[in-house]
Amino acid sequence: MSSLLAADWLVRPLATTDLPLVLVIEQASYRLPWSVDLFATLLQAPDALALGCLQPTPEGALLAGYLCGQWLPDAVEIHNVASRPDLRRCGVARRLFAVLEAQMRQRGCDQMLLEVRRGNLAALNLYLQLGFVEQGCRRGYYRDGEDALLLGRLLAPV
Ligand SMILES: CC(C)(COP(=O)(O)OP(=O)(O)OC[C@H]1O[C@@H](n2cnc3c(N)ncnc32)[C@H](O)[C@@H]1OP(=O)(O)O)[C@@H](O)C(=O)NCCC(=O)NCCS
Repeated sequence: MSSLLAADWLVRPLATTDLPLVLVIEQASYRLPWSVDLFATLLQAPDALALGCLQPTPEGALLAGYLCGQWLPDAVEIHNVASRPDLRRCGVARRLFAVLEAQMRQRGCDQMLLEVRRGNLAALNLYLQLGFVEQGCRRGYYRDGEDALLLGRLLAPV
């Protein structure tokens, strides 16, 4: 499928009404998925970063993926990024990051931070393609013993 498919799909803040579909995608995407309560708490936080990408369909817009995290004073920390399994490699994650980047520029924030499993090659490819660089490693960080790589990306000035 074309990785440009989602290039123009609507991205908007997640709402609590999105949570049932967020949970379906989360559970299909992570070995240790977040609970609905964690997402609900995140959405209520004043510093919440929660974006959803919507796939247009004849029946209406359907959640295609999401990106969640936290706004820090001069950076954003990204906690979850996932796209629907049937829409992977269509550009959903790239679209979410493009909108995040635009929001960061509006706020004068220029740094993205995240952790990724060492063996998550799809995510690592995505992040390297976006310009993230490795800043450290937490050995055995995840409950199953896998290392977490700490990645950061500084937005280039426009
Ligand atoms: C990682 C993930 C979010 C990527 O989402 P996506 O919507 O499929 O990504 P995109 O279509 O925007 O792809 C952008 C780039 O990411 C890389 N990429 C994405 N999936 C890939 C895969 N399976 N293998 C290799 N590279 C991949 C490619 O560089 C791709 O660009 P290209 O298609 O032009 O080559 C998705 O695979 C996912 O939801 N995984 C499960 C959850 C997860 O691991 N999240 C990250 C946790 S840190």
